[in-house]
Amino acid sequence: MAPNMRTRPRNLSARVYDYTAEALSLGRTDAMRRTGLLPIADFMREAEAQGRPASSLRLLELAAGTGRFHTFIKDAYPDLPSVVSDLSPFYLARARSNLRYWRSLRQPSRQLGGVDDTGTEFLQTAAEAIAAPDESFDIVVCVYLFHELPEPVRRAAVSEFFRVLRPGGLAVLTDSVQLGDRRAWENTAGSRAGFNDSPHYQNYVGCDLGAMFQAAGFECGTKYVCSATKTLSFRKPGALAAAPTAAPPGQRQRPSANRRAGGALGGGSGPRLAVGGCGGGYLVAGGGNGGGGNGGSPGADGLESDWPLPLGF
Ligand SMILES: C[S@@+](CC[C@H](N)C(=O)[O-])C[C@H]1O[C@@H](n2cnc3c(N)ncnc32)[C@H](O)[C@@H]1O
Repeated sequence: MAPNMRTRPRNLSARVYDYTAEALSLGRTDAMRRTGLLPIADFMREAEAQGRPASSLRLLELAAGTGRFHTFIKDAYPDLPSVVSDLSPFYLARARSNLRYWRSLRQPSRQLGGVDDTGTEFLQTAAEAIAAPDESFDIVVCVYLFHELPEPVRRAAVSEFFRVLRPGGLAVLTDSVQLGDRRAWENTAGSRAGFNDSPHYQNYVGCDLGAMFQAAGFECGTKYVCSATKTLSFRKPGALAAAPTAAPPGQRQRPSANRRAGGALGGGSGPRLAVGGCGGGYLVAGGGNGGGGNGGSPGADGLESDWPLPLGF
């Protein structure tokens, strides 16, 4: 075994994840993930028509893994302030590295605020105990997590989505198709696309997700199916609030005073995330000195040598 595998074994999963996901799905993963953009686009159009541009909204992605889907969201809505979260600090480190690469490629001349000027903050948290205050986001997205969770944990996560969404907010769930979605495919390897490595997959495919979201208070929205993946959307009842009063340019996106306290995530006048709040997660918020890091110098392949970071850094 190579020395670095012995000392940092858990990094390997985050490093190889995107390659293995594409291999197991026979190259379909990115295309399938992108169905998650459809209800987001519907919602953004609706919000825009109500005087709520992307820059006035806030999106949280849970279990974001390496942040690959998050870069697709940012491609479409670079001005949308967002939070990338995951339970694993190693995946979060990878996501941060990917988001930095995304900015250098797609928005090199923009100062988007947040960490590394990506317009994004990073939060280590469990989906079923989200370390964020009530009603602090307009959109919550979760891709390819639910088939890995036991049913009671899925239910707890849905309750948390509802809690952290503002009235009128959107929840987007993208995951494996379930029984009944593609009858001709059922029990074929192609339909499972690598999802059935989870011990909870059999329970997942029979789980009534619509009923689960409705029990938490959501209204059912849309369903899109692409190959072995489906995307469901749900709305928290209520009307979208008016846009928060705009801060002077640059101020909202550079919450340096809150950075080490894990405070503002660029949410204008809305509620703020706090380190150790709710689910006990911790936050990497944007700062004014090149990006919310802890002073460590990023390695060529990202920041993994700096992680896991101490609480409250
Ligand atoms: C199958 S990967 C999906 C990653 C990403 N969403 C994607 O599209 O590839 C599952 C991710 O969920 C994270 N995870 C596992 N359990 C979690 C939980 N209870 N809460 C939040 N994240 C979790 C893992 O660390 C991993 O990054």
